[in-house]
Amino acid sequence: MELAKNLTLVAHFIGLAMILGPFFVNMRAHSNFGFGWVLTGALLQLVSGTYLTVLAEMGLANDPEESVNHIKIGIKLILALVIVVVAVIARSRLKQIPPVYSRRKVLPLLHISGALALTNVALAVLWH
Ligand code: HEM
Repeated sequence: MELAKNLTLVAHFIGLAMILGPFFVNMRAHSNFGFGWVLTGALLQLVSGTYLTVLAEMGLANDPEESVNHIKIGIKLILALVIVVVAVIARSRLKQIPPVYSRRKVLPLLHISGALALTNVALAVLWH
């Protein structure tokens, strides 16, 4: 059980890196924003985060003193879903702009996904 939780947490950190990596590397770029990574990372966060929640709830059966913060999980879930939507919109907009033109119009979407991921990190670490 502990190993399953730790392995899922590793996946959760990889998903986080997949969202924040493109954000930091491309925050001033004109093209090649890496929204494919952002989308994969956000989907990984949804899956790994849900599994972490299930494992935490299962742990509760053994230790009633522990409790899962459902409001925090709910907010994290919504923010991760918004990142998925933002990445899908960005990818479809990029398909409409030929590579020879500046694609900077979609840059704010990269900033939104980065800001939401950072918000989720802050929620995860600071809110107990
Ligand atoms: C962009 C999306 C997300 C980011 C950046 C993120 C970030 C993090 C981070 C940094 C931690 C580690 C906190 C620590 O060990 O102190 C964490 C833990 C956790 N996350 Fe997320 N998260 C995201 C989405 C989600 C979602 C969607 C869920 C649930 C559906 C979720 C559920 C959890 C749970 C249950 C833990 C606690 C693991 C433990 O017991 O230590 N996360 N998250």
